[in-house]
Amino acid sequence: MEVSYNAAQFNSIVKNRRSIYPYQYEKGKVIPDDIIWQILENANHAPNHKQTEPWRFTVFTGDGLKYFGELQAHIYKKYSGNSFNAGRYQKLLDYPLMASHVIAIGMKRNEANKLPEIEEIEATACAVQNMFLTVTAYGLGAYLSSAGITYFEEAKPFFDLGADDKLLGFFYIGYVAKPFDQSSKRGPIQKKVKWVDKNG
Ligand SMILES: Cc1cc2nc3c(=O)[nH]c(=O)nc-3n(C[C@H](O)[C@H](O)[C@H](O)COP(=O)(O)O)c2cc1C
Repeated sequence: MEVSYNAAQFNSIVKNRRSIYPYQYEKGKVIPDDIIWQILENANHAPNHKQTEPWRFTVFTGDGLKYFGELQAHIYKKYSGNSFNAGRYQKLLDYPLMASHVIAIGMKRNEANKLPEIEEIEATACAVQNMFLTVTAYGLGAYLSSAGITYFEEAKPFFDLGADDKLLGFFYIGYVAKPFDQSSKRGPIQKKVKWVDKNG
């Protein structure tokens, strides 16, 4: 198979990907299903050890966004105990309504092929990055939230996840309304790399 890609264009998709938050989205403007399916399809091509394909998604859109907001606010109120915060509760209700779609990110353990858990989380994170890059390529905005009920054990069944599985966050997507700063805040890669090109 001979393929040729536009590496420069890909590099700029990676570099210009930014977290874009619901308040920056065009409220009420809905992304067509075929684009959402392409985002999910690309997630499905993430690398995964022993082909376990551990990623699971629950997509909320339309009236489903209100359902999701009420669901997460309810779970938060019921199980947050002493850490309950009224502002956060309200945000959990309101934030989904600003998005076109919210996709719950789950990691499902493969019963027949018990890999180390971290590998299944890594594979799911790769799937999320595929989603992020696809969103960027379509000129849309997205961000991954691990706030709210993400790590609440009680939330798992609502996303078809069992005790051994993990809820990893919520991926918000929308059309970008407000301009945003595209510049990356990363420190130089050279400081994070050890380069070994000789023996000893
Ligand atoms: C696992 C994970 C969880 C995150 N959770 C949150 C979150 O709960 N709230 C939030 O505002 N941003 C969250 N973010 C977004 C990061 O804050 C963001 O990626 C970071 O500021 C770098 O910005 P960039 O994505 O535009 O490069 C999360 C990112 C990751 C990878």
